[in-house]
Amino acid sequence: MEHQSIKRVGVLTSGGDAPGMNAAIRAIVRSAATRDISVLGVRRGFSGLLNGDMVELSGRGVNGLLPRGGTMLYTARCPEMHTDEGLEKAANMCRYMGMDGLVVIGGDGSFRGALALSQKGIPTVGVPATIDNDIVCTDYTIGFDTACNTAIDCIDKLRDTMQSHERCSVVEVMGRKAGHLALHVGVAVGATCTLLPEHDTDFHSAVIEPIRMGRLNGRNHHVIIVAEGYGHAQDVATQVEAATGIDTRVTILGHIQRGGTPSAQDRVIATQMGYHAVKILMDGKSQRVVAYEGRSVTDYDIEEGLSREKHLDLDLFEVEQTVAT
Ligand code: F6P
Repeated sequence: MEHQSIKRVGVLTSGGDAPGMNAAIRAIVRSAATRDISVLGVRRGFSGLLNGDMVELSGRGVNGLLPRGGTMLYTARCPEMHTDEGLEKAANMCRYMGMDGLVVIGGDGSFRGALALSQKGIPTVGVPATIDNDIVCTDYTIGFDTACNTAIDCIDKLRDTMQSHERCSVVEVMGRKAGHLALHVGVAVGATCTLLPEHDTDFHSAVIEPIRMGRLNGRNHHVIIVAEGYGHAQDVATQVEAATGIDTRVTILGHIQRGGTPSAQDRVIATQMGYHAVKILMDGKSQRVVAYEGRSVTDYDIEEGLSREKHLDLDLFEVEQTVAT
């Protein structure tokens, strides 16, 4: 049942940027515009909300946005939102600006802000966007596929030089405390081994033994993927070189993984999620988070969504363990 009283909604991006955030903003603005709902773009995340840093977004204003990486609304972290005073100020600003709802595009930290605001009476919806894919209630977060592809592209290039010098390459992949990105990248590049925070490993059997086996099988170079949540790539490289004598180099992919034009998958899912977020507010619902489940878009209560636990894809992990080296 659509809520006729929704006249204006706000949208902000918060936390680390992710490719596809712009596609989600575009979908929100366009879906709202067709229902005569105006959209206020809040710049610089929650800190922009506190400071009234906002811009009116029209359907025309988001032309050409779909293929652009990053976020046109800028993003920031905002410690003030962790205080009751900050939250009260943010809720008052939403009311002052005439927002009937707020869409928060970001990760679970951003959703805690959305949850707190909804508890202050502001209807909120979260749209999951982070390259880490670590949000519990959704199979997929916007930006993950593009980040995987970016990492794969870089590692394929690294492989050329590692092969030429018969070296070992230790590559650190982002993901915060989660290993989803590293696991997918490890499988996709055919890494010798992939070190994940979720999996306790005996270093010798997980790293040194596969290198030894690889050499016996005629492999003259090796790629080791280290999830940033596992530990430092440099420590891994030092141990590999000491144990094997192989010339070893470290590459920390870092923020390059967050950039670039979004992949087809990120464009499509971001557009679906943005559309769905507006629909949730139109239906008079609040405190929801959009989720991707199987191949469709659904939504959950934010509190319920955040209280679940997201596990590593154990089937994929088994595949990685089986086909590595
Ligand atoms: O959450 C996305 C992410 O890129 C993580 O993978 C990484 O740990 C973190 O953000 C880096 O944050 P910052 O941009 O503040 O350095």
